Amino acid sequence: MKSLKIGVCGVGNVGGAVIENLTLSPDTVEFNGGVKIEILQVGARKGKSAVPYNVEVSTDLMEVSQNPDIDVFVELIGGCELAKELIEKSIKNGKNIVTANKALISTHGDELFNLAKENGVQIGFEASVAGGTPVIKALREGLVANKVKWFAGILNGTTNYILSKMTDENSSFEDALKQAQNLGLAEADPTMDVDGTDAAQKASILSALAFNTPFDFSSVAYGGIEKISSDDILYAEQLGYSIKHIAYGSIENGEVNVSAYPTFVSKDQLLSQVGQQMNALEIYCEDIGSTVYYGPGAGPKPTASAVIADLVDISNGGWPVLDNNSKKNQFSKQGNEKFSRYFNLEVKNEAGAIAKVSSLFAKKDISIEALIQKESKQNIDPQNYVPVVIISGKISDLQALAMLKEIESMEEINKSVKQFRIHNAI
Ligand SMILES: NC(=O)c1ccc[n+]([C@@H]2O[C@H](COP(=O)([O-])OP(=O)(O)OC[C@H]3O[C@@H](n4cnc5c(N)ncnc54)[C@H](OP(=O)(O)O)[C@@H]3O)[C@@H](O)[C@H]2O)c1
Repeated sequence: MKSLKIGVCGVGNVGGAVIENLTLSPDTVEFNGGVKIEILQVGARKGKSAVPYNVEVSTDLMEVSQNPDIDVFVELIGGCELAKELIEKSIKNGKNIVTANKALISTHGDELFNLAKENGVQIGFEASVAGGTPVIKALREGLVANKVKWFAGILNGTTNYILSKMTDENSSFEDALKQAQNLGLAEADPTMDVDGTDAAQKASILSALAFNTPFDFSSVAYGGIEKISSDDILYAEQLGYSIKHIAYGSIENGEVNVSAYPTFVSKDQLLSQVGQQMNALEIYCEDIGSTVYYGPGAGPKPTASAVIADLVDISNGGWPVLDNNSKKNQFSKQGNEKFSRYFNLEVKNEAGAIAKVSSLFAKKDISIEALIQKESKQNIDPQNYVPVVIISGKISDLQALAMLKEIESMEEINKSVKQFRIHNAI
């Protein structure tokens, strides 16, 4: 049987689960993968007390990256600075890399893959997107003969859990977030999940694979779910949609748009049915149409499963290293992908006010597909304002933001207006 000698740095949720799996039940990987994976050294700054297994532990993580007997350096500490330094040192020492670090790959992927290529080693990063659901493998292997046109994914389990609770149990955003934290699904500081950063990082990694763009998280437009209210959830339901946080990427004439925003998804789309903390990714290819991947997107065991799958791949010679010398497709600077939009506004309860709003849409050449006056809400004085929902025709993000500003500046409009995309699935 083949053997693979590894060093693991980071013994938190994911590192702990990887070490547990490989130490306590190596038979499954040996039987399924035909490889004996040996942990030669673990890097843990707290030392042996943090690693309750019979493995050598060093408190000096750099020592692991330089261990001459190790074939693969497994980086599971997270963050960018130290992780990058450790990976670069390991690559220069001729080691293959496996990492779950989406923050690092989505910002420094190009540099790291170039370095890996120069040194003839592999970087496995399956665990960086959708945890235990093998979406990177799908893109790099199963769909290798296809041109991807677009992808749409629910890539953050925490936000999906919160939106599911708001939809299924009428929870408020704050209560749903608290429940997610109590269950260990959301971090004590959930900012990067809730504001869309995490999903955007993952979307930029998918874009590099699907559309041959640079790994460039800064080119991804994104927003969070903080502004979604129970009214939006209710109106979406009434109109036949679920609200999901959707990471979306598409390519048209070599120009790529990638984004991650709360989005209305029609109930007849598979993505609208993905509940709780689950992840799903729909990939639409030119010749075969849509394929959909569904499963757990995070958690120690699912993420460890992806890390170990990468180790087995590396033992089999891995994939060709990503070709960073090929001409890359570029991101669109204008955010010009067009979507139908949902606008939620409160309009003065007086003759002609709604007509004035609709004439503004006409003036901007934006069609209105539906304009619905909703029942008054408890927090609005019906004498003064009425809630109105408008579904517009397809417009770009720039057009939508300009429209938002114009509506908000009207004296007939109360408070800030909300707008969300509607997913245009084929
Ligand atoms: N958790 C998930 O479900 C999940 C899913 C997909 C991807 N990931 C990715 O997997 C990676 C690890 O996540 P995790 O949830 O396992 O994190 P975690 O539980 O916080 O564990 C991080 C580990 O790295 C160590 N570490 C952090 N900074 C260090 C430093 N400067 N020097 C030395 N050791 C350091 C920590 O040591 P101490 O214990 O001493 O602090 C801990 O052992 C991250 O890149 C994350 O984005 C996680």
